[in-house]
Amino acid sequence: MVHGAFIDPYAGGPAAPAAILQRILRPLPYPTRLPSMPAQFLRVLATCALVLGLAHPVHSARNYGDEQFRLEHGHDGKDVFWAPTPDAMVTRMLQTAKVTPADIVYDLGAGEGRIPIAAARAFGARAVGIEYSPEIAALARRNVNRAGLEGRVKIVVGDILVEDFSAATVVTMFLTPVLNRKLRPLLLQMKPGTRIVSHAFDMGDWQPDVTIATENAEAFFWIVPAQVAGEWSLRLPGEAAPTRLQLTQAYQQVSGILTVGERIVAVQGRLQGATLHFDYLRPDGTTATVTATADGRRFVGQQKHPQATGSVRGERR
Ligand SMILES: C[S@@+](CC[C@H](N)C(=O)[O-])C[C@H]1O[C@@H](n2cnc3c(N)ncnc32)[C@H](O)[C@@H]1O
Repeated sequence: MVHGAFIDPYAGGPAAPAAILQRILRPLPYPTRLPSMPAQFLRVLATCALVLGLAHPVHSARNYGDEQFRLEHGHDGKDVFWAPTPDAMVTRMLQTAKVTPADIVYDLGAGEGRIPIAAARAFGARAVGIEYSPEIAALARRNVNRAGLEGRVKIVVGDILVEDFSAATVVTMFLTPVLNRKLRPLLLQMKPGTRIVSHAFDMGDWQPDVTIATENAEAFFWIVPAQVAGEWSLRLPGEAAPTRLQLTQAYQQVSGILTVGERIVAVQGRLQGATLHFDYLRPDGTTATVTATADGRRFVGQQKHPQATGSVRGERR
């Protein structure tokens, strides 16, 4: 019997080729980082295995449940089978998201609760796990009780495509590429600065801010960017003329045109949550750097430049 369900199936020394092959044949999670094959290829292979139904519990009989319920790799969920994120990767994901006791971590498709439990136990956060399967959710609740974390971890039986997780400051996931893309619009509407970590699967053309690699697995980290696309009136230090900024945005990348009186210059920038950074060329050929906090209607911050340092304000036109 495995009690507590925190065993990492991929823990141990460097993987031998035979072990690697065996792992490829397992259901989710697949090893997503192997020395000889690019992670992208492995993800495609893994997804194909899932779609074709090749990844099935026949390959593993390890019990991750308890005396009341046997949980094995490949146990049916609604949109994705159950399989555990290795403990080493759980730790890296929560470290990368810089989880603190001030956070509320939501694990979408929580399985037997290992991520919410780790978020509360090792990082002091409050955590919520949403799990569709009632029997897996019941096991997760028993695991939470066994860990003595009832006050900090809640397990909700429900569908991640229906349940409200907008209170999260950190979202964790180990789902599928299709589900990630389905969830992407919802995730992008979350409060700017919300951190998202997905084991194994990326978010399509929303490039990750950080890629996390452990010996056998890969995960991706994003910070939800503020929405800054559109037209802004600006006040910049050292510029007397009326100033207008037109921004376009692709996730956390921004670019645009700054019009200062008769002068038009290109702007390149980046969002890190609600923090907008952009650079522009001044008439003398030097670069000014603006860093500001955006809240939808306005942004406020500082410009750095040897001759024109000072505060910057932007308002939507
Ligand atoms: C691959 S497991 C990941 C478990 C855990 N988050 C981890 O990383 O170890 C995915 C889990 O999502 C659950 N699941 C599948 N579709 C779901 C849905 N639509 N809503 C909620 N949970 C779902 C499955 O039952 C399974 O427990």
